[in-house]
Amino acid sequence: MAIRNIREFGDEVLNKKCKEVTEMTPRTKELIEDMLETMYEANGVGLAAPQVGILKRIVVIDVTGEDPYILINPRIVESSGEQTGSEGCLSLPGKSGIVTRPDYVKAVALDVNMKPFELEGTELLARAICHELDHLEGHLYVEKVEGELQDVVYSEEDSE
Ligand code: NI
Repeated sequence: MAIRNIREFGDEVLNKKCKEVTEMTPRTKELIEDMLETMYEANGVGLAAPQVGILKRIVVIDVTGEDPYILINPRIVESSGEQTGSEGCLSLPGKSGIVTRPDYVKAVALDVNMKPFELEGTELLARAICHELDHLEGHLYVEKVEGELQDVVYSEEDSE
């Protein structure tokens, strides 16, 4: 496993549409392991393959720090409600912005064994699913931000 370089806003790879994964290969498994490690190292709750420069439809999400989801070729099949809140992205470090998202989503995806599964999420998990799936279409949350991007202020405890 290895930490991969996270591409930042302005890198054109973040604006491209990703391709479906057609088979699980050792190389793709390694990519997924690296994405998880890279996400945890950056204290993120989600990471999409294009953020490490790979245009494949793969995202990893973990909103609790101990319950990772790996979604391959994910699609949102149901959504409802609305939540408006602060959102950030590992490709825009130190920034956040207000984005309105559904409060509930149901996604279908393939797992690492290329078996289909469903993932339902509310609140932060619903937000993360929407955010990460947008990355696969080449979209970033900044396109949806209400008002200006804010600088994230870290407390002294966090920075120690
Ligand atoms: Ni992001």
